[in-house]
Amino acid sequence: MCYTVHNFRAEARSLSAVESIVCPCVFQYASIVVTLRQINRMILPIVPYGDPVLKRKAVDIDAGYEGLNELIENMYETMYQAHGVGLAAPQVGLSIRLFVVDGAPFAEDEDDAEDLKDFKMVFINPEIIEETGDAWGFVEGCLSIPNIREEVVREEEILIRYLDENFNPHEEKFSGYRARIIQHEYDHVEGILFTDRISPLRRRMLRGKLNDITRGKTDVGYRMRYPVKA
Ligand code: NI
Repeated sequence: MCYTVHNFRAEARSLSAVESIVCPCVFQYASIVVTLRQINRMILPIVPYGDPVLKRKAVDIDAGYEGLNELIENMYETMYQAHGVGLAAPQVGLSIRLFVVDGAPFAEDEDDAEDLKDFKMVFINPEIIEETGDAWGFVEGCLSIPNIREEVVREEEILIRYLDENFNPHEEKFSGYRARIIQHEYDHVEGILFTDRISPLRRRMLRGKLNDITRGKTDVGYRMRYPVKA
């Protein structure tokens, strides 16, 4: 592929409106198509704590699910804009078994998270088969529960079965931070939040803050879906 196309691909990310682009090379048409596709990406509103969709066990999808590729692209865009490293479909109001992850931003911030550098993946219809290893505590956050971070204890290693974005099946082991991100997102498609995994006492202490999130009384740097749908 020509260098010009690459350049346009980079520029397209910053365009906010359709602009005419003149590319001197034979790839001119391809460049414009890339640009239009990028502009069509949407930031989806994130569902806050308290919305019943977050407590529902999500359902499998098949390869014919309408608009799947676009949904995946929009979920990535939404996740990056909110500075997340994972986003599950129920968090954008869809009760389907799909989540996306990209650990790169976390790898840049943490010295010991090198293995998250190339960890951009799509998980469809995932099933965790087993969780093994030592349980370890890590302070987790969630885009649906802004401004609250709590230590959550989980096992170190997982074996998971899933389909990738092309519906190819995989059975794979993950450990450490990779497993941690997957476990958190997997919980979302099971209708579980990290606040379900902390002590009842801690949860009681957070009740006021959690209610504020549900009522939209929390400062958030990204788009959320209010009011909460019953
Ligand atoms: Ni979350």
